[in-house]
Amino acid sequence: MRALVIYESMLGNTQHVAESIASGLRPELDALVAEVGSAPSLVEIPIDLLVVGGPTHAFRMSSSETRKDAAKKSDDPIISQELGIREWIAAQRKHSVRVPAATYDTRFKMSRKLTGSAARNAEKKLCKHGFEIITRTESFFVESETGPLLPGERERAYQWGETLTVKLITTL
Ligand SMILES: Cc1cc2nc3c(=O)[nH]c(=O)nc-3n(C[C@H](O)[C@H](O)[C@H](O)COP(=O)(O)O)c2cc1C
Repeated sequence: MRALVIYESMLGNTQHVAESIASGLRPELDALVAEVGSAPSLVEIPIDLLVVGGPTHAFRMSSSETRKDAAKKSDDPIISQELGIREWIAAQRKHSVRVPAATYDTRFKMSRKLTGSAARNAEKKLCKHGFEIITRTESFFVESETGPLLPGERERAYQWGETLTVKLITTL
């Protein structure tokens, strides 16, 4: 079975989470990780699981404006320069079969009412595009806008990947 983990990341925190999730999906699934700007522009069938993750910006998925703001926060070049998951999801078309999917984000460790959630935002959009959400969104927490991830978050991402595999198999 094949899984595709697509991530958007400014300074690498959401990328690290994507890699840990993919490690948790293996060896049960053949999991490929792709940065959104170099990912296939359309989900190609057959795929058994799509995972989409991005940083929470201004309570939701990033926009070109918030990505510009993010670029000013560090001297290092940002990873997802051109495209965010918002634009990538908007470009998807409905498939005749419902593709299983899940979303995650990175954000501050506070009540979601205060931080917002890119994952919730992405989940709603994926539903509209006909994807079948197989589990609740998950958030992984950063210390500050530039990171790093809080201790234990990479391990939690690995475990979420393992949980996703079980959910997928029981959904089929
Ligand atoms: C422009 C901007 C807006 C942000 N807005 C939020 C927000 O509304 N809620 C939140 O929890 N974190 C917010 N953050 C923190 C990001 O979620 C954090 O920078 C991100 O998780 C880092 O991951 P990355 O290195 O993969 O981009 C914001 C960061 C930036 C740069």
